[in-house]
Amino acid sequence: MNTIRHETADTYGDSRSGARHGKRPAACTRTFGCQQNEADTERLRGQLSAMGYALTDKPGDADLMLLNTCAVREHAESRAWGHIGELSHWKAARPGRVLVLCGCMAALPENAEKAKRSYPHVDILVEPRNIDRFPDILRSFLRGAKHGRYTDIPQAPDYASGGYDAPRRGAPPRAWMPVISGCDNYCSYCIVPHTRGRERSLPMGGIAAEIAALIEKGYKDFTLLGQNVNSYRDPDGGGGFPELLRRVCENEGDYLVRFMTSHPKDCSPALIEAMAGLKPVAPHLHLPVQSGSDRVLDAMNRGYTAARYLSLLDSARAAMPSLTVTSDIMVGFPGETDGDFEDTLSLTARARFDMLFTFIYSPRAGTPAAQMPDLPREVKQRRFERLLELQNGISHEKHAALEGTVQRVLADGYEPGNDLPLTARTPGGRLARLDGGPEWVGRFARAEITSHTTWNLFGKIIGEG
Ligand code: SAH
Ligand code: SF4
Ligand code: F3S
Repeated sequence: MNTIRHETADTYGDSRSGARHGKRPAACTRTFGCQQNEADTERLRGQLSAMGYALTDKPGDADLMLLNTCAVREHAESRAWGHIGELSHWKAARPGRVLVLCGCMAALPENAEKAKRSYPHVDILVEPRNIDRFPDILRSFLRGAKHGRYTDIPQAPDYASGGYDAPRRGAPPRAWMPVISGCDNYCSYCIVPHTRGRERSLPMGGIAAEIAALIEKGYKDFTLLGQNVNSYRDPDGGGGFPELLRRVCENEGDYLVRFMTSHPKDCSPALIEAMAGLKPVAPHLHLPVQSGSDRVLDAMNRGYTAARYLSLLDSARAAMPSLTVTSDIMVGFPGETDGDFEDTLSLTARARFDMLFTFIYSPRAGTPAAQMPDLPREVKQRRFERLLELQNGISHEKHAALEGTVQRVLADGYEPGNDLPLTARTPGGRLARLDGGPEWVGRFARAEITSHTTWNLFGKIIGEG
């Protein structure tokens, strides 16, 4: 295979380098943010590997460092800038190293400016919409690189082989499967439509075929991904998201299909019917509600009311009695009053989510909500803590109800030395730590649940599942 030849470590006197004369250069990746970013990193790693890079987990060994970043809240961005800052030493230790800033942060013009001004050791910015072009972007950067640091750059030989950007996935049994990118919803607080652009769906036939191939390789738990997955529409005319579920579930074998993120305004009766009727579809719905106040939901541009959300939950639970429901709620949206927040608490108490991801509103430049006055930090923090306390009680009760039951689980990891070394997930996505041997990894099993915390279930394997 054609590879990029990297100048020797000795040339630059960096004894920590993993790159040796004539050997492949090494690349290291770090991922922040959501599952879309995880899936994007798998693709980027596939591209790097096809370009001839060896993949390493150690930045000290790497010739190229790629950070795949998130811009959804200010905290996510400041953490990433912190990492970027630290990498100035990494970069200075060996000229010729390449620092790539990918992901949602790289899509925002103000961040490109900031990198240029304050972090000049960032060499390349690649926004999510340009991931397909990453190998070309990297090659043209390397071609123009100063000091003749890189030579023998391949002329995209691997495009022809068809395997060019086959993602480098984690080990079975779990696999991410992006099906739609971008978001057209423009919730008034959210940066994602600005970073990922308009919705684009991947062809249904290709998704189903890839899942078939992964089942052959031992993958058993597929998550169909999109910021707004229910608005999937096959570009080849095969239909919408319920049809995609049906098509994917035509594959033979024992496997689970889950999907995220669903938007309440697009979560149709047809979707619930498809979920309930298809055996491989996991009884799990991640359905972010964001607020329990109709006034706030309207200001957020969410397109539903609290009552509509709750009736959607009721009908989904009626169709699937074992359904696990998880959600996202944001507190402290501009103008949220104590009364609005009480509505959020009532909705939470009534919805009884199995798990809730709670966030404090963070203004994002360029979004309509950022024009509105932000609430005081202490008000937001207090509301956040009250919501968390309410939900922790509910999660605890939900887990307590599972004690003494037998659950079907899929084991996905083994940590030797741990009292309960197996990690596994229920079809609803709950994490279980179990007593059992490494031979269970990648297999369905029956597990008796013997104790719990707010976040985990504990128990032991009692047989094949
Ligand atoms: N597409 C999904 C989620 C996208 S981002 C949806 O529609 O729900 C994941 C979560 O981050 C959101 O559900 C929201 O709760 C939170 N979030 C998004 N923008 C935010 C912001 N500006 N401040 C705080 N939390 C935010
Ligand atoms: Fe953001 Fe709303 Fe799109 Fe979700 S649906 S990604 S919250 S704009
Ligand atoms: Fe973050 Fe982008 Fe995902 S902003 S949440 S990485 S879509």
